[in-house]
Amino acid sequence: MGIRFATPEDFDSCVELLPKAWNSSRMKARVGYLLMSRSALVDTDHDGSVNGFFLLEIDFFDEKTLYLRTAVVRENRRRSGVGTALLKYSLEYAKNNNFRRIFLDALEGNEQITRDGVEKFGFKQAGYIDNMHDEGGKYFIYSLRVADYVQ
Ligand SMILES: CC(C)(COP(=O)(O)OP(=O)(O)OC[C@H]1O[C@@H](n2cnc3c(N)ncnc32)[C@H](O)[C@@H]1OP(=O)(O)O)[C@@H](O)C(=O)NCCC(=O)NCCS
Repeated sequence: MGIRFATPEDFDSCVELLPKAWNSSRMKARVGYLLMSRSALVDTDHDGSVNGFFLLEIDFFDEKTLYLRTAVVRENRRRSGVGTALLKYSLEYAKNNNFRRIFLDALEGNEQITRDGVEKFGFKQAGYIDNMHDEGGKYFIYSLRVADYVQ
């Protein structure tokens, strides 16, 4: 079926895909809020089931900066291009809506997958936040100037 902006009806399907470690009430509330405000993308199969979603924060930094907050693809659909298709859609959305810069992030442990998936589009590591949690751990930030988007 392809990619579209999510609606509140997609909430259960999206929450179901959250990795266990992220399945907190705070995260569910954020997913709900972004679905309500039409700020999430879903990729759906021909039967309508959700293969994956991206949360787009359109006013997190300022109105020219898009923050791709969370990317999740259904486990049995990973490594088949769903994440890339959602990323490309987000990049086109940013370009067509006059965003100047895009940020995305990855927790330590996910940074290699994320870097491999996003560098080909021109994203560069912009730095990291240290000791993001009490247990420590880095939070890597990747940045792309929309004008430098490699299509
Ligand atoms: C990260 C995630 C969204 C990627 O989605 P996906 O649909 O599997 O990604 P794609 O199939 O489009 O892969 C894109 C590229 O990312 C990289 N990549 C993805 N999964 C990878 C893995 N397990 N190991 C190494 N590289 C990987 C590769 O470069 C890949 O390109 P290639 O297949 O041509 O080599 C998915 O693995 C996921 O939901 N993970 C759990 C949540 C998460 O960590 N989200 C990211 C931080 S918010």
